[in-house]
Amino acid sequence: MTVLFVNAAFRENSRTHDLAQKYLSTLTDTVETLNLGEENIRPLQKASLEQYCKDSRSHDFQDEMYRYAKQFAKADEIVIAAPFWNFGLPAVLHAYLELVCTQGITFDLNEAGEYYSLCQAKKLVLILTAGGNVPENDCAISYLRTLCKEFWKIEDVRYYYADGIDLVGVDISGKLEAVIKQYGNSQE
Ligand SMILES: Cc1cc2nc3c(=O)[nH]c(=O)nc-3n(C[C@H](O)[C@H](O)[C@H](O)COP(=O)(O)O)c2cc1C
Repeated sequence: MTVLFVNAAFRENSRTHDLAQKYLSTLTDTVETLNLGEENIRPLQKASLEQYCKDSRSHDFQDEMYRYAKQFAKADEIVIAAPFWNFGLPAVLHAYLELVCTQGITFDLNEAGEYYSLCQAKKLVLILTAGGNVPENDCAISYLRTLCKEFWKIEDVRYYYADGIDLVGVDISGKLEAVIKQYGNSQE
């Protein structure tokens, strides 16, 4: 089993990264780490979009821009670490997901117009921390849940988060510990 760890928590002493490492330490699988803070990931723009559309039509995915989608499709479990930024996911994670959502690599469409998955993973874990409070069904988690449901058919989506950790007087370590305790309860 290979776990793909997509790390969008790259601030020095990141609490989110720390929580993700604690999660990964509960697994016995091989972990492949992708540090988004060190990747030169760009959102699709005029030239790259033209290429992406052309390659999708011809199913020619030799370009380097498809390496993220290929790696994602092969993983058995996906773990994403992301801090909550501007009421959403960090832009680099969004740009990464845009490339991962390449039709013909991580999903495709049948003649009836239904999406089917080309991903091996049956489980995706999102680990998030936020300075303020995050509503349970916030757009950050709903966006990932929708991609999992519609494109990748990943039914086991787990969301572990500690919010309000920058609020004055809050017991930060207590909040982080409470998340770590949930890992133990939800492992099969
Ligand atoms: C660019 C930026 C944007 C942020 N936006 C929000 C926000 O919209 N809501 C919120 O609750 N916290 C926000 N925060 C605070 C972070 O969510 C919080 O500090 C988080 O725990 C950071 O995780 P880290 O320790 O892994 O870096 C923001 C922080 C940064 C640096």
